[in-house]
Amino acid sequence: MDIEQCIKQRRTIRKFKNLDVREKILSKILNAARWSPSSRNQQPWNLITVRNRQTLKKIGETASSGSFISQAPLAIGIVMKNADQPLMDAGRMLQQMELMAWSLGLGTCYVTFSPSEREKISEILRVPSDADLITVLPFGYRMDSLERKGTPRKKVSEIRHEEFFTLED
Ligand SMILES: Cc1cc2nc3c(=O)[nH]c(=O)nc-3n(C[C@H](O)[C@H](O)[C@H](O)COP(=O)(O)O)c2cc1C
Repeated sequence: MDIEQCIKQRRTIRKFKNLDVREKILSKILNAARWSPSSRNQQPWNLITVRNRQTLKKIGETASSGSFISQAPLAIGIVMKNADQPLMDAGRMLQQMELMAWSLGLGTCYVTFSPSEREKISEILRVPSDADLITVLPFGYRMDSLERKGTPRKKVSEIRHEEFFTLED
């Protein structure tokens, strides 16, 4: 799949086929993460791959905006340690994973945690206290009908400022 197609077609996926994600496919997703850029090339990421059904269920029950994690065949916990810019590095890395997954027929969804959810899920995944759990991304093969509705985008003319920041009338 070409990069433009992949970027334009990608959608957040919250429903997955009941199909395992094989190690070879997972390896491609993890390698996409590995090749991400990071501040001072610190590569400060730790990726926890979770397939255990009980663990996925517990995470899904804890994450109020990510209950669908319970139904995913796989999830990847993103943990940053000793990072200058953890959110920026994690964001760039998880987008690479998402696009690689999409090109292979899979999908994912970023899940936001409240502070207390983050604490509980960090405990479930045994994240050490000197590291930060950013999110847990569920991965699975996407259903044939995509969630295309409800995610319109602004036009370029609405986000572009030419030469300097211009205020709308
Ligand atoms: C930082 C961030 C946080 C998000 N948090 C959640 C979430 O907690 N639960 C959820 O179902 N979707 C979440 N999403 C998915 C967005 O709702 C989705 O990306 C957006 O509506 C655009 O749709 P699209 O990804 O299909 O293009 C999040 C996305 C981002 C980038």
